Amino acid sequence: MSASLVVTGIARLVTHDPAHGAADGPGHRPAAGDGSGHRAMPGAGAGLDDAWLVVDDGRVAAVGTGPPPAADQALDVAGRAVLPGFVDSHTHLVFAGDRSEEFAVRMAGADYEAGGIATTIAATRAATDDDLRRLLATRVGESRAAGITTREVKSGYGATVADEARLLRLAGEVTAHTTFLGAHVTPPGFDGRTDDYVALVTGAMLDACAPLAESIDVFCELGAFDADQSRTVVTAGQRAGLIGRVHANQLRPGPGVQVAVERGCASADHCTHLADDDVAALAGSTTVATLLPATDFATRQPYPDARRLVDAGATVALATNCNPGSSHTTAMGFVLALAVRDCGLTIDEAVWAATRGGARSLRRDDIGHLGVGARADFVVLDAPSPDHLASRPGMPLVQSTWEAGAMVSRTFHLDPA
Ligand code: NIG
Repeated sequence: MSASLVVTGIARLVTHDPAHGAADGPGHRPAAGDGSGHRAMPGAGAGLDDAWLVVDDGRVAAVGTGPPPAADQALDVAGRAVLPGFVDSHTHLVFAGDRSEEFAVRMAGADYEAGGIATTIAATRAATDDDLRRLLATRVGESRAAGITTREVKSGYGATVADEARLLRLAGEVTAHTTFLGAHVTPPGFDGRTDDYVALVTGAMLDACAPLAESIDVFCELGAFDADQSRTVVTAGQRAGLIGRVHANQLRPGPGVQVAVERGCASADHCTHLADDDVAALAGSTTVATLLPATDFATRQPYPDARRLVDAGATVALATNCNPGSSHTTAMGFVLALAVRDCGLTIDEAVWAATRGGARSLRRDDIGHLGVGARADFVVLDAPSPDHLASRPGMPLVQSTWEAGAMVSRTFHLDPA
């Protein structure tokens, strides 16, 4: 059994435990009942000021204010904020190759149409397992430095039976939340034969990949997979015991959200272009609307309307979508700042969506909050409140990141003197 730890000197401890009420400091609004007409996210903003946190055996054993209890070890965070570790419920972290030139061309006026996925497929197939392992380890390290303590990782840059299985095996070395995305695009060799490729994905590829994956995902989009093909992929995956997910309504309005809700998927991801029916369907379902605003930033798409989703009653998550083409970042603080500035969330809601919302998408109750009994995954900010994440975008505000009570990342600043 590991030694217990008491963390003291916490200026603001975000727990997301509704028992701790909603925050009432500056920047922690609007909430239900404040006259704004906005609906509240249960637990968003809940926490304690001038608080302490006790960790025992990798879990939150107690939280409180006033004199802290004794523990085997003590850490004084000297007036910093502590919040649940970020839960990044949508990433494509296993890839090789560089598409920064594609970004530059796009900034000069070209549209994003996902055609670059084939470039990454070629580079990824050519990489060795050890190459991919090294790249993955670097990305996991970067994401921990950004405060991410749990991540989902998709395949999708293999697009053969052997390569998709290989990517899932590698992903499984760094996370339990692996997603089979054989239906990312129709790869070279299947031009004009998307149905044949869907038959492969739902046949031999699924047989090889289902034992290595927790979820199945499909890119439902013009030029990728249509509604019927997407339904076929998700249904086959669910029959093989996988959780369903859909890349939905990313580049234009489309059927993705409806397919996700109809199939009882855990998440519909992107949700950039939604019709009223899509919002209503999400609000009336348990499918989480996972928003990826760093993608909309990098592809010059409009930003998704998170406010509309929350006010309708949908559950909203924020994730990075780290991939080489449309969102080459694991900077969750940046994602959160975009969600506040451009998607209509309050800061409390954005923090909730990047933690508890992601946990909902991954169907986890033990992470994304710091209630007693939760896994002790937390972030110490170099700031007294999470408000700084949104008001100081791009700054290295994560002082340290902890998983199950152990520090996994720490930012050092050299003394300027
Ligand atoms: O979620 N849209 C599909 N997949 C990724 C993009 C992948 C790429 O461009 O390489 C996304 O944005």
